[in-house]
Amino acid sequence: MKRIKLNNTIVLILSVCIILNLTACGEAKVPDTQVSEETEDLVVVGFSQVGAESDWRKANTQSMKDTFTRENGYELILSDAQQKQSNQITTIRTFIQREVDYIVLAPVTEDGWDTVLSEAKEANIPVIVVDRQVNVSDDSLFDCWVGSNFRLEGEKVGEWLHRYFVQNEIDEAGVNIVNIKGTLGASSQIGRSGGLSISARKYNWNLLAEAEGEYTQARAREVMTNLLNKYDNINVVYCENDNEAFGVIEAIESAGLKIGPDIADGQIMIVSFDGVSEQAIELAKEGKISCIGECNPLHGPRVRKIIESLEKGVRPEKFEYVDESIYSSIDSIREIQVDEKAYPITILK
Ligand code: AHR
Repeated sequence: MKRIKLNNTIVLILSVCIILNLTACGEAKVPDTQVSEETEDLVVVGFSQVGAESDWRKANTQSMKDTFTRENGYELILSDAQQKQSNQITTIRTFIQREVDYIVLAPVTEDGWDTVLSEAKEANIPVIVVDRQVNVSDDSLFDCWVGSNFRLEGEKVGEWLHRYFVQNEIDEAGVNIVNIKGTLGASSQIGRSGGLSISARKYNWNLLAEAEGEYTQARAREVMTNLLNKYDNINVVYCENDNEAFGVIEAIESAGLKIGPDIADGQIMIVSFDGVSEQAIELAKEGKISCIGECNPLHGPRVRKIIESLEKGVRPEKFEYVDESIYSSIDSIREIQVDEKAYPITILK
């Protein structure tokens, strides 16, 4: 059952305004979601989004917008944190004041959520965490989480690289890899960097350097340019998302170097994550990105399913991991294994 959003005080204020025809009432700080009569039957969802740093993020926001429509019975209040946790904390407090029915949080980083999520719990507002995770002292501060297994994504790309090196008789002790990390402290960064460290240790790769690319094309271009000035032996670049790969490609090409999987012939190989934009898929088809670990952004319907079950009083799974693929146009590797489980590769043509 949907909750009625107009509380008695607001009904009273609105009634007085209508009766006295006070124009000044138009300036009152009553949120839009509570003014409209239609809103009465809508479930109000406050969504605190990380920002718009990548194609993945834009697709994720769109998925939420497409799902939480009035036609579907929802009022979505979307807030863009511009990659700042402090903005998200302020937004969540606003959602609490507005008495939204659900708070959906896509956190910038994992740490620092205890206080504000305790406030949401105190106000009895269910919290659904999406995409990256929160690291809280008490698990009851959020209802559930849905997103990707970022460490597994990293390990899958690591295994793909290993298979490629073995197939092409490349001495793995000669692999000099740099990691262009995502936003430091984000689960996707922690997981993917962790996956790379596991593979580097296991297969004796030289993890030459790490730099923060912030999941953006511009920052990745800048840090890659610096790395190319410092090292002349980089032969693999591990980009923690596709937008970083775009920046890395620009940096490598500006330096007059060649991109591709043939590292024995002096090319620099690039691998990345997401596989959301046309541009990334095209670059993978061209061989400029050798392998992409899929990160699925379409969480809108998943969050809706969670809300529907909470509305019915049914507790959803605390953690829901999404199944994901691996993309490559190199068709000699059809499958990789992580922890004895096989994962097929989606071959791009
Ligand atoms: O947390 C998911 C990551 O965040 C995506 O891989 C990246 O593109 C985004 O900005």
